[in-house]
Amino acid sequence: EHSREITQTLSEFLLSTEQLLEVKKRMRIEIQNGLSKSTQDSATVKMLPTFVNSTPDGSEHGDFLALDLGGTNFRVLLVKIRSGKRRTVEMHNKIYAIPLEVMQGTGEELFDHIVQCISDFLDYMGMKNTRLPLGFTFSFPCRQTSLDAGILVTWTKGFKATDCEGENVVGLLRDAIKRREEFELDVVAIVNDTVGTLMTCAYEEPTCEIGLIAGTGSNACYMEEMRNIEMIDGDEGRMCVNMEWGAFGDNGCLDDMRTEYDRAVDDLSLNSGKQRYEKMCSGMYLGEIVRNILIDMTKRGFLFRGQISETLKTRGIFETKFLSQIESDRLALLQVRSILQHLGLDSSCDDSIIVKRVCGAVSHRAAQLCGAGMAAVVDKIRENRGLDHLDITVGVDGTLYKLHPHFSGVMHQTVKELAPQCNVNFLLSEDGSGKGAALITAVGCRIRQELS
Ligand code: BG6
Ligand code: GLC
Repeated sequence: EHSREITQTLSEFLLSTEQLLEVKKRMRIEIQNGLSKSTQDSATVKMLPTFVNSTPDGSEHGDFLALDLGGTNFRVLLVKIRSGKRRTVEMHNKIYAIPLEVMQGTGEELFDHIVQCISDFLDYMGMKNTRLPLGFTFSFPCRQTSLDAGILVTWTKGFKATDCEGENVVGLLRDAIKRREEFELDVVAIVNDTVGTLMTCAYEEPTCEIGLIAGTGSNACYMEEMRNIEMIDGDEGRMCVNMEWGAFGDNGCLDDMRTEYDRAVDDLSLNSGKQRYEKMCSGMYLGEIVRNILIDMTKRGFLFRGQISETLKTRGIFETKFLSQIESDRLALLQVRSILQHLGLDSSCDDSIIVKRVCGAVSHRAAQLCGAGMAAVVDKIRENRGLDHLDITVGVDGTLYKLHPHFSGVMHQTVKELAPQCNVNFLLSEDGSGKGAALITAVGCRIRQELS
């Protein structure tokens, strides 16, 4: 009879096609709210203009520094772009750690640390004396007023440094560079990771007009018609819009699909009540949902002989890479047990079967929800262009998309079912969003020269 109760619990994670169509419809409403002048102030999906008006055309060139902050890894990169007949992009990068106490300390400490890493990188490359243009991939919601100014709306994911929200992040970076008095840099662009990913992919594939991240966080951007972006003057052409769709549901519009486990994860998070869709869809939270279900099932005596271990009480134990391993079909159950063992969870064979089912239910729903959001976006673009049928490419990045054995497949299938008038091709970004940030920086430099 445990088996029936387990099935019952996990059935809350099953979404019918009707429910997914409902998610798509609600996302579409929130997109509209974010774009319209009369509703944008209270909109949850903020639809932030990026001041990027086109995808790359191959004429971009030069040497650029790029910073990439906000995903699993913090990187500093040197990107050398050559145009002409033989376009090449050469990249050098180094990964740096951001200690938890820096992520959640003061803003000054965070930006001093970033500049310290740039300093180390410039030494490593032997480039301290060159004043390079820099593109800053900053994967958080920013209200931009130009390519090189962005006010942090709110921290998301694991960051919580003080005195940054409401501030121009480019200013904070420039101040920290000045404080150090060691080298100069020309900060040209601030770029969301979705936008960087879109540009990276569009450089290889011109039909790419959407960027998607399924990683630590979840978000998308796309080329929207200027006439629809009411907060920006001008009706000609298009501009890339950073949707910040992770905040979808923050007005309660997804509450009928959230479970008690989603609410528990939200309550224990750094930003409770915020980023509700992201907390159902992205790598940083899926493991936490799983952990909350396992705790509940253990309490009810279905698992681990009813014993809640200290390990199971530890936040963050189920990282994306472990979920991905547990769900891999190539793994024998014995190996699932050994992963759990490695995490400090003593499991029987039956336990491991249940854990695998729980992971499957949570990640399947995540992929479907993400697909429903994407279906709303592609249909919006199709309607923008007055088409009965749209062919389009989505550039994608993120550890969940890359590592998880089923996430991408389920997500693709969901988009197909929910947006039958669109033929959506998914292109995996191979070189991260730093390359895209450099391409945007190249365009920014060119426009600046033309104006001067
Ligand atoms: C990377 C980007 O490739 O993808 C990062 O360069 C981005 O900036 C990331 O945040 C998303 O993946 P994750 O899983 O590391 O959050
Ligand atoms: C969070 C951030 C968003 C970013 C996404 C993916 O949702 O708010 O800016 O794009 O994570 O990294």
